[in-house]
Amino acid sequence: MLTRSAARLLSTQTRAFSTSSARQTKVAVLGAGGGIGQPLSLLLKIDPLVSSLSLYDIRGAPGVAADVSHIDTESTVKGYTADQLDEALEGVKVVVIPAGVPRKPGMTRDDLFNTNASIVRDLATSVGRVAPEAHILVISNPVNSTVPIVARTLEKAGVFDPRRVFGVTTLDVVRAARFLGEVSGNDPKNTVVPVVGGHSGATIVPLLSQNAYGKAISGEAYAALVRRIQFGGDEVVKAKDGAGSATLSMAYAGAKFTNALLRGLNGEKGVITPTFVKNNVFADKGVDFFSSNVELGQNGVEKIYPIGPLSAEEEKLLEACLPDLKKNIEKGYAFVA
Ligand code: NAI
Repeated sequence: MLTRSAARLLSTQTRAFSTSSARQTKVAVLGAGGGIGQPLSLLLKIDPLVSSLSLYDIRGAPGVAADVSHIDTESTVKGYTADQLDEALEGVKVVVIPAGVPRKPGMTRDDLFNTNASIVRDLATSVGRVAPEAHILVISNPVNSTVPIVARTLEKAGVFDPRRVFGVTTLDVVRAARFLGEVSGNDPKNTVVPVVGGHSGATIVPLLSQNAYGKAISGEAYAALVRRIQFGGDEVVKAKDGAGSATLSMAYAGAKFTNALLRGLNGEKGVITPTFVKNNVFADKGVDFFSSNVELGQNGVEKIYPIGPLSAEEEKLLEACLPDLKKNIEKGYAFVA
């Protein structure tokens, strides 16, 4: 049940969340004290499908938990310190991971690999041991490599299920809708386009031709729009000038994807969104993970959709994406091996 104030908040401030049933779920945020973790925890607190929120970080999570716990929605919130990861994961159904370092100006997401790979591997090891059936949503970059790291780590522990490990690429989808809305003069809800591939630079492939407004964009305007969708994250990194990367829009995107998964888990039909999962879409090219439209359901990934018809420009974007993506995935695998 929605409290009245939560219902008001949800209806007036965001259309990211919707409810489909009364079933509720325990969700953990690992990295809850960070730039993304804090606003993400806030947004999950006002998601009526979350019954209990478990906030973990190596620093600062109890403070975030105490703060967020005063919000007048029904869910309970608890914060955990560095040595309490196992307790934080007890009984958790969904684990969202924004733990790790963000980019500074001039850095690519791959530059974060050395620090974030081990953070993500260690967290995945604990999830595999304490909550082996949890759905894991990876935000930590480089997503193209951290998701294969999580998968391999769980595989080694004998608990990997490809229906339950997701790279969160929702921010690319959010940006694409917003930027196409801007250039075409439309409400972003009418300019939603699938963004497929991976989550960094040239591996981000927006399929503008699959939206009527997107299809109408051509020439220089098309090239500029594609570039902005692929490198939109750099605008934020540059504007923050050393203070990190996207946190607020990422928290929104992370909460939006979590809500979509929770709706699917609760039995809602037709919840379809791109996400970076293990699949066979380009297995023939040696690419094990690829983001394309996925139907989310009671087991997590229910159905993976083919990418659909591509324009000539999109064929080229895809050609550029696949070799990079393959390298990123192999780098992740090699780290665990
Ligand atoms: P941040 O530095 O503000 O926060 C990271 C948090 O992780 C810190 O509170 C830190 O204490 C915590 N942490 C570090 N090691 C940990 C561990 N072993 N266990 C638990 N917590 C740990 O960074 P921010 O801005 O929140 O970014 C987090 C990650 O998200 C970065 O890797 C960033 O690149 C990525 N990101 C991903 C996006 C996407 O679209 N998937 C978009 C934007 C950022």
